[in-house]
Amino acid sequence: MFRGRDVLSILDFSRSELEHVFRVAARMEKHLKRNTLEGRILATAFFEPSTRTRLSFETAMHRLGGSVIGFSGEGATSLAKGENLADTMRMLDAYADVIVLRHPLEGAAKLAAEVVDAPVINGGDGRQHHPTQAMVDLYTIKKELGKIDGLHVALVGDLRYGRAATSFIYGLTRFSIRKISLISPPLLRPREEVINFLKEVGVDYTEGENLDNVLADADVLYVTRIQKERFPDMAEFEKVKGSYKLSAKSLERAKEDMIIMHPLPKVDEIDMMVDNMKHARYFKQAAYGVPVRMALLSLLLGVVR
Ligand code: NCD
Repeated sequence: MFRGRDVLSILDFSRSELEHVFRVAARMEKHLKRNTLEGRILATAFFEPSTRTRLSFETAMHRLGGSVIGFSGEGATSLAKGENLADTMRMLDAYADVIVLRHPLEGAAKLAAEVVDAPVINGGDGRQHHPTQAMVDLYTIKKELGKIDGLHVALVGDLRYGRAATSFIYGLTRFSIRKISLISPPLLRPREEVINFLKEVGVDYTEGENLDNVLADADVLYVTRIQKERFPDMAEFEKVKGSYKLSAKSLERAKEDMIIMHPLPKVDEIDMMVDNMKHARYFKQAAYGVPVRMALLSLLLGVVR
């Protein structure tokens, strides 16, 4: 079911497949040191900055007894000499058993998957997809709140240029969500294709600018960073920068067990005081990246079914 598959979009996966990944991840959490991928090699090809995605994939591979090769920043590779992406990917295919690619261009992972035999995992392509982040996000909700169905999930921030937010929204539609609230300044509203998808699947969603209106009812608050590097026009960025910030005070109205998530890195959108509140789960969310990616690597390489 999973062996040899590419992971390009969260929408490549059905609800039952996601639940299977979560079951395997929960098993991985119980026993983090394994040697089931001994002799296998993961290649990480990161053409954009990354902390969590790359390092949690590396940690996952090491914990499974496998090894890792790779690079981050194209200045470090022959791309700086003019080699094209497809050729670089063909080489990695010859060296490694599975490849994680992060790239600024939308569709880069799909292109890589077309020229490569090994499973290709999209570690983020432009503003479009970041499927493993969405898996980690959904797993976090399941672990922290015990279920995903029936919840009201509010997203706040840059919903236009953020691939983590987009993939998370798509992922939520695989479950029976009670409501999705999309809170952003007008310039950062979700793209039309995302809204059309929500309409198509018939999810109850609302768009707005004011978080206070939804805070008292939300079960999950997913905060995101303004994606400065993806703005086509810096004048637009100047208009929205610093336009939202979650303060400890604003959370007074929140439900007791409401959780705050963030794909990280966070810049100035969450007051530091919030980090110590019981609602904050973003560091835990980042930690769940390891068991979820251990599960995925094991499934794609066929050592777990
Ligand atoms: C995100 C990304 O790179 O898309 N980071 C991540 O993988 N956790 C979010 C971001 O950069 O804001």
